[in-house]
Amino acid sequence: MRMRKKKHGAERIAACAGLLIQPPEPGIAAPPPDPQDSYAVRRPLHLEIGCGKGDFAVGMAAAHPDCNWLAMERVADVACLALEKAMRQQDSRPDNLRFLIGDARRLTEYLPPASVECLYLNFSDPWPKSGHARRRLTHPDFLRLYRTVLRPGGLLRLKTDNRGLFDYSLEQFAACGMTVEWQTTDLHRSERAQDNIMTEYERAFAGQGLPICSAWVRFGKEGTKP
Ligand SMILES: C[S@@+](CC[C@H](N)C(=O)[O-])C[C@H]1O[C@@H](n2cnc3c(N)ncnc32)[C@H](O)[C@@H]1O
Repeated sequence: MRMRKKKHGAERIAACAGLLIQPPEPGIAAPPPDPQDSYAVRRPLHLEIGCGKGDFAVGMAAAHPDCNWLAMERVADVACLALEKAMRQQDSRPDNLRFLIGDARRLTEYLPPASVECLYLNFSDPWPKSGHARRRLTHPDFLRLYRTVLRPGGLLRLKTDNRGLFDYSLEQFAACGMTVEWQTTDLHRSERAQDNIMTEYERAFAGQGLPICSAWVRFGKEGTKP
């Protein structure tokens, strides 16, 4: 997501510090901190990678108070908008939603093994050129990181408008021994439409009449290692 640099971005993020989990400094060899320490109550942890402006994470945290939600975004100015949205959302600060400004490439530095129940990738950048395949968030390099932080048998939920990325992702899931539990090429006309919480990109694509693809896939306990 491209964005003009936010005025007073650092101060605006600092004003939302109570919702932020600080990533460890790069290059410091220490075990990742327990993310559950950042929430009032320990609950199953759901992680969104590339949360953009935060509609999905804010909506899911409100709809599922029985879970803890962590929204990760690597662009600080974009995360700033998500943080401010979360601060505005409720009378009191959401106690089950936190944000982490960081890059998914460092996921295993941020989170301990088997700490995540479910991981969400929503409208990730498709990087259509084959030379850029390693940047796709469903490249095997990323799947390896997801396998580490997800609990055994944990779920990954993907949504995208991009058929090329969807087909590529399904191929990588199969190659990595993941099991597709459910998939559709038209989420909004599927049996899961009612419970679906839309992201900013999703609303824009749906407004143009584009169908949304989605897959729910599980890492097998003994599956082929990515
Ligand atoms: C196309 S936008 C979609 C935003 C939001 N999920 C939505 O559906 O409206 C993709 C977002 O993922 C973020 N992103 C891309 N690669 C990332 C990475 N390696 N780690 C964390 N965030 C990433 C981008 O900065 C961008 O905000």
